[in-house]
Amino acid sequence: MRYLPIDNTLFKENRRRFADLLPAESIAIFHSSEQFPRNGDQYFPFRQQSDLFYLSGIEQEKTILIIAPGAPNPQLREVLLFLKSNEVLAQWEGHKYTPEEATAISGIEQVRFVDDYEAILRDLLFWTKNIYLNFNEYPKFFSEVVDRNERMGTALKAKYPLYNYCRAAPLLTQLRMIKSDKEIELIKLACNITGKAFRRVLKTIKPGMNEMDVQAEFEHEFTINRANGHGYQPIVASGKNACVLHYIDNNAVCQEGDLVLFDVGAEYANYSADMSRTIPVNGRFTERQRSCYEAVLRVQREIIKLYTPGNSITQINKRTEELMEHEMINLGLFTRTEMMAQDAKAPLFKKYFMHGTAHFLGLDVHDVGPKESILQPGMVLTCEPGIYIPEENIGIRLENDILVTDGEPVDLMAEIPIDPDEIEQLMG
Ligand code: GLY
Ligand code: MN
Ligand code: MN
Repeated sequence: MRYLPIDNTLFKENRRRFADLLPAESIAIFHSSEQFPRNGDQYFPFRQQSDLFYLSGIEQEKTILIIAPGAPNPQLREVLLFLKSNEVLAQWEGHKYTPEEATAISGIEQVRFVDDYEAILRDLLFWTKNIYLNFNEYPKFFSEVVDRNERMGTALKAKYPLYNYCRAAPLLTQLRMIKSDKEIELIKLACNITGKAFRRVLKTIKPGMNEMDVQAEFEHEFTINRANGHGYQPIVASGKNACVLHYIDNNAVCQEGDLVLFDVGAEYANYSADMSRTIPVNGRFTERQRSCYEAVLRVQREIIKLYTPGNSITQINKRTEELMEHEMINLGLFTRTEMMAQDAKAPLFKKYFMHGTAHFLGLDVHDVGPKESILQPGMVLTCEPGIYIPEENIGIRLENDILVTDGEPVDLMAEIPIDPDEIEQLMG
């Protein structure tokens, strides 16, 4: 991997906290990501399953982790099973972990090859009642393709029906929502790399440049700073394109006089940053662009103050909407009278701001954690208000990543330029 080695106490501690949540006579089984076929004999680039990484730091395909805190044989309380290499595999695909490397990365003493899976499982199952399986439970995510956890888990249930099968996802969610100091450090690195890339773009962008060339500037900076790449599909959207929330074509020319919206985040050691910035292609905001920009920035600055223990995403969204209504009236997008008469089911602000303000961030860009959760120290969330006015060729989103603490919220992107005067000065 490109990132620098991570002290394995992070993964040891994660496993300990997970094991503490398991009732007696339980085991939990975690599988790596699938190698997803692309076409012909090609796979999509491999990206480790986030929970398996969280619990082991292991990046390799076909890896299995078993956590069995109550196993009578202490050697089987944590077992990592991974691919056995051979000369042909090494020749064609490169190096696979040796047992010593797998132990050094994960801190797991008991490392075995996947061929031993069935034998180890049968040893463990003799005293087991509950088997925890790790299915993807992300709300509103529907895939026609099952992942390896689901595929192997379903086969296990069919083969060993006389057990109580349980969900690992709620336990992992509970743990992953609160970031440890080491995780916060890794997220900060992802944010810093993203900030460096943004500064590079501020210096290079000019009218006539294609959105894809701007994307390449981000990628160049990501790569030379040891990022795996993007944490999600990058958005480089000039002019009207910025009003398409998930615009990812990134192939239009950035025109003189237009704004360009970036929603990009580097992924470092599998931790993602999530940043949005909007800048004038030619380095100077028009009066109208600046008014809209400052409205979004005012809302963001006000809302960040709510990232404190006791609040929730639901409350953050609600307050953002109230502030947005006020800003939109001042921008002349609708009048107070029109707002008072609006259909409560289709409020007017939704025409110009139609998405939520916050989501959890971590190993996944839309990290685990329900939006009803009460904020606690150690949570990291985005703050991303926006205003989209296609009839004026204006789409603005400003997105920073915020750490909830015991005291004031900490803006992990505080160093990334956002003030419009600073943006103009840096572009000048
Ligand atoms: N980049 C995805 C999001 O902002 O939610
Ligand atoms: Mn976001
Ligand atoms: Mn984003």
